[in-house]
Order: sequence, then C-alpha cells, then structure tokens
Amino acid sequence: MDDPLLWSSTDQERALRVIARWYDLDFGSMTDDVEMILELASGRERVLELGVGSGRIAALLARAGHRVTGVDSSEAMLESGAQRLRESGVNVERGDMRCLDLDERFELVFFGLSTFQHMLRREDQLAALRSARAHLVQEGRLVIDWTAPRPDDLVPTPRALQVEWMRESDDGRWVTKQAMQELALVRECGSALDRSSPIAWITYQYDSVENSGSLHRSLARFPLRVNLSTGEMAGLLAEAGLRAVEWFGSWDFDEPGDGDRLIVVAVGAEEAA
Ligand SMILES: C[S@@+](CC[C@H](N)C(=O)[O-])C[C@H]1O[C@@H](n2cnc3c(N)ncnc32)[C@H](O)[C@@H]1O
Repeated sequence: MDDPLLWSSTDQERALRVIARWYDLDFGSMTDDVEMILELASGRERVLELGVGSGRIAALLARAGHRVTGVDSSEAMLESGAQRLRESGVNVERGDMRCLDLDERFELVFFGLSTFQHMLRREDQLAALRSARAHLVQEGRLVIDWTAPRPDDLVPTPRALQVEWMRESDDGRWVTKQAMQELALVRECGSALDRSSPIAWITYQYDSVENSGSLHRSLARFPLRVNLSTGEMAGLLAEAGLRAVEWFGSWDFDEPGDGDRLIVVAVGAEEAA
C-alpha cells in the first residue's frame, strides 16, 4: 500500500504494536524534550498531553507535581506504558485527538515528539488544533514540538535503511534499529511528488537476537507529514483560533532555524498580547 491517504486506524495500530515493543529502548533515555516541556509547564498545574504514548513525558510531569491527563488512540502504546502511567498518577484517556471532548480544561496542552506529524491532511491538523484549543483554560498555552523541515524531505529517491543504534534490552537481547524515510507519491497520477503537503513513509526495522541465537526481525512502516514550516503552522494556528507567541528551533530554546526541531507556544487568538 503506497497511498498514505488510504492509511487506516487498523494499519496504524499494527505499526504501533511493533514500535511499542521497542519504544522505551528507542526513546526512553531521551530527556532533553522532557526538560523543555517541564520548563514550559512551570507554574501550570493541569496539563494535557495529546498522543501520550507510553507516558515517557507525562509520567515525569506527574512526578514533578502536575495534574496530568494523557490521551492516545493506540491500545498498544498505552499498554506498553500502563504500569508507568498508573504508578505516576497520569489520568489516561484512550481516544482520538481530532475529536476529543473532555470535561476538564488545562493550563498547558501539548503535542510532544513529532506527534502532530501523525496528522496527515489539513483537516486532521485543524481538527487536532481545534481540539487542543477547546481544552485550554483562558490564558492557557499550547505547545507543539515537531521535526523541522530537512533539506532532503522532498528528495524523491527512497533512501536506504540506515542503522540508528544497537542497544542491549532489559532482558539482555541485542537489538539493532534501522530506519529510512521515503517521500510518498500523489495518488491521482502516481508519479508527481506532492510538494505542498508532503507525506513520507517512515520505516523502522528492529532486529533482535534471541537467547537461542536466532534473529527476530520486525518492521513498522507508517506515514508522517513532513516539511511542516513555521509559516504553514502559523496559518494552521490562526485558522484554529490560536496565535503563536514564541518559536524555538531546539529543545534548548535556540532560535528557529538553529536546530533540527520546531517548537511553537500558542495562545487563544483573542487573548491580549
Ligand atoms: C511519536 S509517539 C509520541 C509518544 C509520546 N508523546 C512520547 O513523546 O514519547 C506519537 C503518539 O501519538 C499517538 N497518536 C497518533 N495519532 C493519534 C490520534 N489521532 N489520536 C490520539 N493519539 C494519536 C500514537 O498512538 C503515538 O502514541
């Protein structure tokens, strides 16, 4: 299947079931983005994470004293972090961030680690932003952290799998992760590239060596919206009734363009500057 717009929630769950198995080994030791969110959450009690996954960020926020709710649509991701989420006191809601309707409102709502890039179409992006907007208290802040556009986001030639890491898992197996990104093609003609709102197929391949010595290989291939610029995000925010107040280019709060992330802090459009 090469048309990312035919991607279904069943396809997504199948891919996430593979990723969830190795998610903590892959991303569990990342702390720079967590520290950034902790800083942006300072003085804000109620926090909502959209796409909470296994609770990597949410659990640390809860342990730091915030009242945290985490929403995710993936059973596999929530299952993989169930113990951590429970023990840290995160309130978990399984649901789709595009049509969320919680009773509570929050001082901070955020999309961590490229989660917003799961919103493939403009209507998905706007639905997720409107959902986030609807769950903010007055003077609440929305934070979105995504991968900055890269020079080769629009290069048509599929790149080869590249080794990202080799690590030892908790149960003593050696695991190797390889990954690649390939630009998806527009479905109408199948040959032209969609350069205005490009979607890439991301492949993760995990090889683990079992205790018996046999190799177990698992593959997850899923689509992500790539090449999302500050200009496009500013337009989306405005259309969803939000306004950007700060931009950063890294988890260390560098200027946009000076790092490989884009991070925006936004407020309700009607709020005073
Ligand atoms: C890259 S993971 C990030 C997980 C976590 N925020 C972290 O930083 O470790 C993206 C998460 O977004 C979730 N997700 C994707 N689309 C979603 C949707 N429409 N509604 C709710 N969650 C969604 C996925 O299930 C996945 O857990």
